[in-house]
Amino acid sequence: MNVIEVIGRKRDGLEQSAEEIRFLLDGYLAGSVRDYQVAAWLMAVVIRGMTRAETLALTQAMVDSGEVMDLSEVPGFKVDKHSTGGVGDKVTLIAGPLAAACGVPVPKLSGRALAHTGGTLDKLESVPGLRVELTPEEFRAQVREVGLAVAAQSPRMVPADKALYALRDVTATVASVPLIASSVMSKKLAAGADGIVLDVKEGRGAFMPDLESATSLARLMVEIGEGAGRRTVALVTAMDNPLGRTVGNALEVGEALEVLAGGGDAELREVSIRVAAEMCRLAGVGRDPAQAIADGSALDRFRRMLAAQGGRLEEGLPVARVQVPLQAASGGWIEAIDALEVGYGSLELGAGRLRKEDPIDHSAGIVIERQVGDRVEAGEALAVIHTRTLELADRARPRLQAAWRIADHEVQRPPHVLERVAR
Ligand code: URA
Repeated sequence: MNVIEVIGRKRDGLEQSAEEIRFLLDGYLAGSVRDYQVAAWLMAVVIRGMTRAETLALTQAMVDSGEVMDLSEVPGFKVDKHSTGGVGDKVTLIAGPLAAACGVPVPKLSGRALAHTGGTLDKLESVPGLRVELTPEEFRAQVREVGLAVAAQSPRMVPADKALYALRDVTATVASVPLIASSVMSKKLAAGADGIVLDVKEGRGAFMPDLESATSLARLMVEIGEGAGRRTVALVTAMDNPLGRTVGNALEVGEALEVLAGGGDAELREVSIRVAAEMCRLAGVGRDPAQAIADGSALDRFRRMLAAQGGRLEEGLPVARVQVPLQAASGGWIEAIDALEVGYGSLELGAGRLRKEDPIDHSAGIVIERQVGDRVEAGEALAVIHTRTLELADRARPRLQAAWRIADHEVQRPPHVLERVAR
């Protein structure tokens, strides 16, 4: 088998065997297949797609590329949660503590920012001192003792995904049902939880552009999970507008704390409770997650998790040097906020990466002052831009300004949870 033939077969739309897929992945990890060759193959996959058999083969090859987490010594029905990526999506930081406070052990291995979407690890690292690189022993001990750990998967787990993920991020090869399904599910299968709740995003700010493609991604992932013996449920949620009131790492951690304390954006609170309720249902736990907000137990759980991972929240979250308003050019009601443009805008402000090696400015991002459905007068703030320099703010401003669509009539906020997919 030679690599040029393997890439060429995908380019020509031919079905690939499990051996071919394994050959490519193993060669990539061993260094005999190069970045540019895998990038070409990925682009061919994006354009040509993959059959179900190819997707299962890719998922299995990714799981087999590394170690798997053994959680058997952690008592209880353990439930993991994963989002396919959104803008302002800090649901893990809220639903995880909610489910844990209800008594569900939550072992969560998370990812970094991908393309225009944020990553839970980058968000958590905005807490001074916080470590996301936990050894398997530390991870298991924390789930046992705190009920919740959110960490990076070890480089020895699913190394194929880690390598592909970073390459896809910078080669415009993220948006593909089989690549996302195999990436998400290989990590979930290797992470060892008994149940998996998937939040599959659709719309402008998601990798799946519409309800149909997101639902087919959700079905495929539920099928892969259940086929591997894990109880799996997916919610399909809207990502046309950013979720909540903040986009950017430290800002989103701050907002998660606010919601756990009983305040914050109503839609963000509702979807977080819904995700946590699905986690509880899979685990057979009858408690209402909303109660864990009301009695403060979820906030306490989140703080304990941050502290267990070395986080020193008492030192405060990083704050941007430059904070400037984005003003409405005209008055009216906010009809839409283009999540994709807000995602790219916040990336330009420093909240994400344009190249693999770019550092992240944890303080950068956007605070949304006017959400969909809100009324605004000309000259009032639509948002506040948080960044390092005025120059960066000015560079992102036209893109952000264009993201807010203002109507001359009242607007209702559209529904957020669109579908539930279960076997
Ligand atoms: N999230 C993942 O973990 N992988 C993808 O490919 C996309 C979103």
